[in-house]
Order: sequence, then C-alpha cells, then structure tokens
Amino acid sequence: MHSRRIGVFDSGVGGLSVLAHIHRLLPHESLIYVADTAYIPYGCKPPEQVLGRCLSVADFLAGQQIKALVVACNTATAVAIETLRQRFSMPVIGMEPAIKPAALSSRSGVVGVLATTATLGSGKFNGLKSQFEQHARILLQPCPGLVEQVEQGDLYGEKTRLLLVRYLQPLLESGIDTLVLGCTHYPFLLPLIRQIVGDAIEIIDTGGPIARQLQRQLEMRDLRASAGSGTVEFWSSGECTLVEPVMSQLWQAPVTLHYLSV
Ligand code: DGL
Repeated sequence: MHSRRIGVFDSGVGGLSVLAHIHRLLPHESLIYVADTAYIPYGCKPPEQVLGRCLSVADFLAGQQIKALVVACNTATAVAIETLRQRFSMPVIGMEPAIKPAALSSRSGVVGVLATTATLGSGKFNGLKSQFEQHARILLQPCPGLVEQVEQGDLYGEKTRLLLVRYLQPLLESGIDTLVLGCTHYPFLLPLIRQIVGDAIEIIDTGGPIARQLQRQLEMRDLRASAGSGTVEFWSSGECTLVEPVMSQLWQAPVTLHYLSV
C-alpha cells in the first residue's frame, strides 16, 4: 500500500503549482498527474459539466490503484469534493481559497480574492466567505482569461499583464492589504502580480498547506512512503504536442505526456 501512487488532477497545467509542493515535501511518493486540458476551462462551465469531468478523471486515477487523490483545482473542489469523498474510501484532499488566514491577519480589514467565476459562485465558497465576513471585507474578483494565458505559458507577456492590471487595480483602490490566490493557475503569475501590487501586499497561495494536509492524511492512515525516490507521471486529455512544452516550462524539467482519452 505504501508504494502506491498519489493521483493529482486539475483542468489543466495549474495543478502543477500544487504538485511541485507535494513533490518537494514528500520526495519518496510517486505521483500521477492528470491535466484535463480537452475540457479547460472548468471555471466558466456549468457545475454539472465540471462534476462529470471530475468523476471521469477521478475514476481513471482510481483505476491506477492510487492510495490518495488530490483535487488540485479550486473550481473542481468547489463543485465535486463531496461527491468524490462519497465515491472513494481513500483520502481525497481538495483546495480551499485561503480566506480564513487572510481575514484573520489583514490589518486594513480588506481582503481580495482572485478566482474563477465558478468558484466564486459556488455554495461551498460562499459558505466559507460568510464565516469570516465579520473579520474583514472580502472583495471577490473573477478573472476570465487568466487561466488561458497560463495554459499558453504566457506568464510575462503584455496581454497577461493588462488582464492582471484590470483585475487588481480595483482591489488596490479599495484598500486591500492581503490577496488570496483562489485558483491553482495563478501562482505561476506571481512575478507579474508582485510587480503590479508592490511589496506591501500579502499574497496567499494554498499549495503548501495542501501538501502538508496530504502528508497528515497519509501519516494518519499509515500510507506514507518512507524510502526510494518518487516518480512523477504526466497525463493530459488535450493535444499532447501542444501541452507538453508548456508543462515542461512550468515543471522546469522535460515532461513526457501520456494521452488520456476519457
Ligand atoms: N485551476 C483551476 C482552479 O484552481 C481553474 C482552471 C479552470 O478554470 O479550468 O480553479
């Protein structure tokens, strides 16, 4: 059981920002990553459609005899995490925008959240938001188009910068001192985001906490691998020749992709 792999998935390459934290924290674990690129973006699709994709990808991963599943996508988590937890007996770990630490630590009392339209519109997200609204004003900013820029590997270009300025400027004008990255694609835009918001704004991403949560779950169930160097295998439902170069860029090492036809 210890030597079984951990499955990780996202609608595309964004989940690599989470995978990197997992690989660094748990170097003995072997990982299998799925980018559901043929169906990206999840963030502007109706919940039923996102749920259907999550079930197909998760069933594929379960068929690979994984010992734990990480939903490295805020949108997929918001829509599908309960269903996935009911469907599988293995640990299923999901993303959650870091509203709690942001609201509790903000000194200006104004917090900004960048996420997809689907995440911000979900019942799960709004339930979380309402728990912390007495601590801070929580300003929501949907970011259509950003995921596509990351999928093209355009992390520094003018179009990406202009989109970010459009989304960040109103938050800055409203006095935020803390910015929550509520989509796993956005950490790849951190250098540009930092350039735009300056050094005084606290930026919170949940990749690190999710890796630690996975570690705790594995330890609790005595599933953690403790020797050997873990492998990482990459799959995509999109056109592999297009996705491979971007994955290699973001993973900072050559990636060989397997094609997923579910
Ligand atoms: N990476 C996904 C997330 O964390 C969203 C990407 C998409 O819209 O497909 O929400």
